[in-house]
Amino acid sequence: MDILLLGSGGREHAIAVSLKRSPKCGALYVAPGNGGTAGIAQNVSLDITDGEAVRDFAVARGVGLVVIGPEAPLVAGVADVVRAAGIPCFGPGAQGAQMEGSKKFSKEFMGRHGIPTAPYEAFTSADSARAYVRQRFDAGVGLLVVKADGLAAGKGVVVAKTVDEALEAVDECFGGHFGAAGATVVIEEGLTGPECSLLVFTDGTTMRPMASAQDHKRAYDGDLGPNTGGMGCYSPVPIVTDAEHDEMIADMQKAVSGLEQEGIDFRGVLYGGFMLTPEGPRVLEFNARFGDPETQVILPRLKTDLVDVMMACATRTLDQVELDWRDEWAVTVVLASKGYPVAYQKGFAITGIQDAEALGDVTVYHAGTALDEAGVLRTAGGRVLDVTAVGPTFAEARDRAYQACERIHFEGKSLRTDVGLRALRGRDAWEA
Ligand code: AMP
Ligand code: GLY
Repeated sequence: MDILLLGSGGREHAIAVSLKRSPKCGALYVAPGNGGTAGIAQNVSLDITDGEAVRDFAVARGVGLVVIGPEAPLVAGVADVVRAAGIPCFGPGAQGAQMEGSKKFSKEFMGRHGIPTAPYEAFTSADSARAYVRQRFDAGVGLLVVKADGLAAGKGVVVAKTVDEALEAVDECFGGHFGAAGATVVIEEGLTGPECSLLVFTDGTTMRPMASAQDHKRAYDGDLGPNTGGMGCYSPVPIVTDAEHDEMIADMQKAVSGLEQEGIDFRGVLYGGFMLTPEGPRVLEFNARFGDPETQVILPRLKTDLVDVMMACATRTLDQVELDWRDEWAVTVVLASKGYPVAYQKGFAITGIQDAEALGDVTVYHAGTALDEAGVLRTAGGRVLDVTAVGPTFAEARDRAYQACERIHFEGKSLRTDVGLRALRGRDAWEA
């Protein structure tokens, strides 16, 4: 079966690698793809938020499955157009994508279905939002989180410790900083604790949980510096207790059942971003897709054929598929361009990937790379490579990932040196 995959990041390279491993995968097209997908699939140039263009390509090539990686095409309703043409599609339609595309929608949804989350209010005017900020801090709340309602590429959330910080964030949103995404603002109480993601496959009725994973969003060691798209990740998360894990799965089940009850046909991945508070896990956000870089640590451990899993989600037969996992740990370290996420240069030659993979149990996923006309692999983005290792213990996987990173070279190579370090030290040290 020929497959069309939409997206261009490390997540999509990881999905492409797993799809290609399946004997059922025929031609694999990736739109637009990157330097890594070019090596194993056919990159194609398509406007991936244009449902008709995606559908027409899929029809012309006789594609049997369309897989949507990023959120923008999901929110744009590409899955609806593809499915209307009778082509199985992995990814929710526009309605289901609102779980990620509108913070207000997802908070109201959580309220309707008893899913634990931080108390909040939503606003469409700066005056009432500002009044709420003052009132909450006066009432003794120590931390407020200001969120632009719509998609803002991970930049629409400010965790404010003071009234002034919160007011500034409110003004930024309503000042048009995030365009239409900031026309509605959600303000919620700040929670504390380790963060953890739990992703599930679903066909709209049945759900199959994946392993927990944890991202590192800040740019620099010690969780300092600006937020990024993610600088490293590991899976499973060793500090999660069994009780917390069960609660997170129960919350995800409430979400999947809630979507079905509301008549929202959700086929793909539902991503729960949790905070493990002293009162139990609380949902910070839902995403309507695989995480990036979570996918890079989850899929290498999946033994079940990914084509089977995705087709089962797309055709509502997931009850017939069980997931089988490698009983190992996975760690990804992101190699970024110097200066990311603020300002950085591109176009530097990359060497050493084969050496890194020769270590064994190492896969180097490409995030921002491109092949130049001479066939030389060059940096083409802020996050360049996701260096992933699996191992029989968390410590071994982590050590191997860092050894692999040492073998890769490009000008301005930057990385966090503490990916997984807090988790390695255990929960008590984390909370100390
Ligand atoms: P979101 O896109 O809603 O997940 O928010 C992005 C990041 O902001 C999360 O990964 C958290 O680090 C932080 N965050 C979001 N909501 C809260 C909250 N209620 N309390 C504390 N931190 C939060
Ligand atoms: N790693 C966070 C996300 O994909 O949203």
